[in-house]
Amino acid sequence: MYDLKVPQSEISRQYEYAEKIRALSSGRKYTVVTLGCQMNVRDSETLEGWLKRCGFVPAQNREDADIIIYNTCCVRENAENKALGNVIWLKELKKDKPGLIIGVCGCMMQEEGISGQLKEKYPFIDLVFGTHNAYMFPEYLYRVIASSERVFEVWDIKGYVPEGLPAVRNSRINAFVNIMYGCNNFCSYCIVPYVRGRERSRDPEDILAECRSLKAAGFKEIMLLGQNVNSYMGGGTAFADLLKRVNDIGIERIRFMTSHPKDITRELIECFGTCEHLMPALHLPVQAGNNEILKRMNRSYTNEKYLETVSHLRKVRPDIGLTSDIIVGFPGETRQQFEDTLRLVRHVRFDSAYTFIYSPRKGTPAAKYDDPVSIEEKTAWIEELIALQQCITSEALSGQIGSIQNVLVENVSSRSALTVGGKTPRGLMVNFEGDGSLIGKTVKVKITAAGKNTLKGTMEE
Ligand code: SAH
Ligand code: SF4
Ligand code: F3S
Repeated sequence: MYDLKVPQSEISRQYEYAEKIRALSSGRKYTVVTLGCQMNVRDSETLEGWLKRCGFVPAQNREDADIIIYNTCCVRENAENKALGNVIWLKELKKDKPGLIIGVCGCMMQEEGISGQLKEKYPFIDLVFGTHNAYMFPEYLYRVIASSERVFEVWDIKGYVPEGLPAVRNSRINAFVNIMYGCNNFCSYCIVPYVRGRERSRDPEDILAECRSLKAAGFKEIMLLGQNVNSYMGGGTAFADLLKRVNDIGIERIRFMTSHPKDITRELIECFGTCEHLMPALHLPVQAGNNEILKRMNRSYTNEKYLETVSHLRKVRPDIGLTSDIIVGFPGETRQQFEDTLRLVRHVRFDSAYTFIYSPRKGTPAAKYDDPVSIEEKTAWIEELIALQQCITSEALSGQIGSIQNVLVENVSSRSALTVGGKTPRGLMVNFEGDGSLIGKTVKVKITAAGKNTLKGTMEE
């Protein structure tokens, strides 16, 4: 028995509550709005799974819904403002539809005092729960529906691992599979460890069983998910070993995220040479290029160590595509230190990078550091970084012109039924002429042109 698991009896109880809700009424409509990262996307799939079990069906739009759930993020201030702005807008909707159930969950609910504030200030919110007790959703919803109670429950615990929950997957081609929850790294700017709790890994057998059933259901690509997958340690199995076992299942494509540069092992890098289903793509957030800043971020690696990892990866897999996250304007960062980031970006040549202006998060160490640089200056810096990265991205894309790529077709374009889109092994998006019958197939595509962020091509016969 894996000692971190939520007891199965507790999960069964939730299925019973879902049945009770279904018996009360079925055919009501739901909308789940997801903000934030892949973790939240995956959590929302579980919420949708529960809602389906409860007899709800997807609504066409928010106006049409009988229940709206907001799954929030709080990693930066603008994510929080977006969540609050959205929720306040619902007040108007509820005026026209008093029976509408409004629920708010996710990372922001784990912040100190938030749940209490929402309860007091926004009487139109019916349900609030956090990240640690999300598996209790049917029970809470039952209380809201059956006794018209307002339920506000957020747990401040280390967190357990719930297994056997339902899910409505967003795609039938790519699936997210959680391998661990939480984070122990406490980067000095980051709120995630406070709202997601300490690291806990799923039992490898549960992960493998999920991957096998996804393969049997026809999924072609699996993304293994965790805040820091490199420190996965489920039942004594390290991440590289788990990856090899997932590879042996024979799912066409495997990817994983996110990797912390400090924990990348030689064994893991070597998987890129030995695991035939592991795609040559890695998201490796560097955050900054200057050692003093990295130290104050509590990232535990240096610029030199990062570059060494990159060169090792490229030795093992010369065609690997690297992507990254970068923070601009960490408290006290000088222009010179920021230039080290520009230098690193020029050197590594990421395929793409997510760039953020530092956003102070209450309760994190960096929020107390001196931050003399103005927001105007930080904005000018980030624009410079974005322009540089755009140049590098364009060159990386143009470099693909003339090559023939294996593209896994994922969708039909929203603009034309005769255009489909998919990814190369390296993770670059390609659009080409084709129809819906190609979805889920891997086809050879000759790359003919490069746009700003995507490629164009023609299918080879
Ligand atoms: N666990 C992942 C990602 C976590 S959040 C990792 O360690 O890479 C995603 C990204 O948000 C981070 O990589 C970081 O670049 C950014 N981020 C986190 N906290 C931030 C803050 N306070 N201000 C600005 N960006 C932040
Ligand atoms: Fe945040 Fe750092 Fe953990 Fe990533 S590794 S979630 S940036 S504390
Ligand atoms: Fe946001 Fe939570 Fe992800 S804070 S970035 S949704 S882990």
